[in-house]
Amino acid sequence: MDRKKFYITTPIYYPSDKLHIGHTYCTVATDAMARYKRLTGYDVMFLTGTDEHGQKIENKAKEAGVTPKEFLDRIVEGEKGVLDLWKLMNISNDRFIRTTDDYHCEAIQKIFRKMYEKGDIYKGSYKGKYCTPCESFWTESQLVNGKCPDCGREVHDAEEEAYFFRLSKYADRVQYLLENTDYLQPKSRVNEMVNNFIKPGLDDLCVSRTSFKWGIPVDFDPGHVVYVWVDALFNYTTALGFMNDKYHDYEKYWPADVHFVGKEIVRFHSIIWPAMLMSMEMPLPKHVFGHGWLVMDGGKMSKSKGNVVDPYVLAEKFGVDALRFFLLRTFPFGSDGNFSNELLINTINKDLANDLGNIVSRTVSMVDKYFSGTLPEEKSVTEADSDLINTASALRDKYEDDMEHFRFQKALEDIFAVIDRANKYIDENIPWVLAKDEANKARLAAVMYNILETIRICAVLLTPFMPDTANTIFDRIGADESGRTWESAGKWGTLNTAVTVKMGEALFPRIDAEKAIEELNAIQAEQRKKAMGNIVETEPLSEENVDFNTFCKSDMRAVKIKACEAVKKSDKLLKFTLDDGSGTDRVILSGIHKYYEPEQLIGKTAVAILNLPPRKMMGIPSCGMLISAVHKENGEEKLHLLLVDDSIPAGAKLC
Ligand code: MSP
Repeated sequence: MDRKKFYITTPIYYPSDKLHIGHTYCTVATDAMARYKRLTGYDVMFLTGTDEHGQKIENKAKEAGVTPKEFLDRIVEGEKGVLDLWKLMNISNDRFIRTTDDYHCEAIQKIFRKMYEKGDIYKGSYKGKYCTPCESFWTESQLVNGKCPDCGREVHDAEEEAYFFRLSKYADRVQYLLENTDYLQPKSRVNEMVNNFIKPGLDDLCVSRTSFKWGIPVDFDPGHVVYVWVDALFNYTTALGFMNDKYHDYEKYWPADVHFVGKEIVRFHSIIWPAMLMSMEMPLPKHVFGHGWLVMDGGKMSKSKGNVVDPYVLAEKFGVDALRFFLLRTFPFGSDGNFSNELLINTINKDLANDLGNIVSRTVSMVDKYFSGTLPEEKSVTEADSDLINTASALRDKYEDDMEHFRFQKALEDIFAVIDRANKYIDENIPWVLAKDEANKARLAAVMYNILETIRICAVLLTPFMPDTANTIFDRIGADESGRTWESAGKWGTLNTAVTVKMGEALFPRIDAEKAIEELNAIQAEQRKKAMGNIVETEPLSEENVDFNTFCKSDMRAVKIKACEAVKKSDKLLKFTLDDGSGTDRVILSGIHKYYEPEQLIGKTAVAILNLPPRKMMGIPSCGMLISAVHKENGEEKLHLLLVDDSIPAGAKLC
């Protein structure tokens, strides 16, 4: 019998920069869904890939002094590139498309021609604001203060010949689709699309460009390249073999069951995509799910803000499964989630180290200790077991309902509620007390079995999220193939009654949070610096004038540092003994120990204001103030004591 099919996609990544944790989020979610469907017996097609055309890529390649294809190959196939990251993250895609692949480009040309021949694409002229240095058209609303949003220069009205897609023709059908079906999810995104984009009137869409070359040429008018979104959206069908001979799965898998997409590209997937499919008379995907963003301190991650988080760093430090788990456990899939290192580490420590890891290692070591690793056949099950057994047995149905509705966070919450219940069951039954009396052997065996069986059910359901961890757990608790299946997750009592466990290392060692956060912050600051260059901030200039006579009253002198020492019990203060030219030593205290060790400064010539009233600090009078230059570098305070040429004699007045 033919298995049921499930076709799921991620947005194909635009490789103008390095991938960050936000892109990883979407791909990990798609992977978990694909693995879940495979687990439940579906024949799954999971597609991901890269969206490789457009002016931005052309410009980036130029900046890097390479051809666009060379630039792309490096990001996609190079070390720590897109393919490497998906491999590291254990992404189980069945296919990977690059929109520069020949079969895709040829198919797009045929698709474009078909819509043109049908009359849904026509030639017109594109009017807009043009930035000559950037060779870019902008709409009025894209301008920033009336200037080019990329380079900030003047723009002017311009007109360019272009092809247009009759989006307006499909407005009513698209509105009907959004309002009357569950095509677009979550439902909350429908109003935004209808009210903000469809109701104000859908303009026809400009679908060709002549101002740059890096795109798929319109074959019947080669001065034009196909608009990148037309090229990109049809990847979902060309990757199956639509209008090409590279693959032959179009009939089998199309229409897609679901496209997972980030919220900012819901518009393309819920308005333009169905309209083009209607024009092509192709079936529509069953669902588009618009997920939220991972944000940092409330803002979207972007390289220009310097707040991107590198998935390689996190996966290397905490493990791939822990990272996969964190992403889907912490944030509801449809909403934005605020990423922080603290949250990541706390989640790993709580759920994975304390709860899951702990119950597996405790249980396995108890079975090892009390039964030399193998449970006896004879068990005494009592009424006290029924709550745990019922809770664990009911888990699969709840989980299934969550997963079918893309509620990953909820599915994991349900699993962890059962793990919690099992931990409580241990406290209720106190195995170490039972173990003291040989007469309790059969009861103790039943308690151990029940915990192992609960862990097994949870591990089956964790497989889509943490495939490697689930397998390790199966090995530890002695679950053979029959205990790793979807069916067995709904069947209490699958583990062999005389099961043998295997001891092993902690699944998730507890992380020293303070130390790890400090390390991560340092790595991320370093990466930020690399990505953005050094950001130096200085205080804004004062707007308040000081009258000249008052200023001249400041007695500013060159002073020689004769001695310098740290002030006891203060981690900030240094005590300077200075020659100010008067013949009597002067003592000044300054809070700059964070920046200098005393011996670095002895013998140098500094600048001080001498006629300030003496001030006591830590019981020592300070007579004046040394002058320093201060600024911020990448958010960090920097200070330089103002040192002058040593040939300037002590006491020389600065004016
Ligand atoms: N190339 C288009 C998609 C074309 S699909 C036919 C594109 N690419 S992208 O590289 O800019 O983004 C890929 C996906 O990553 C999008 O779904 C986007 O929403 C998602 N994310 C990018 N940053 C993100 C976060 N900070 N958080 C969550 N998802 C984010 O759009």
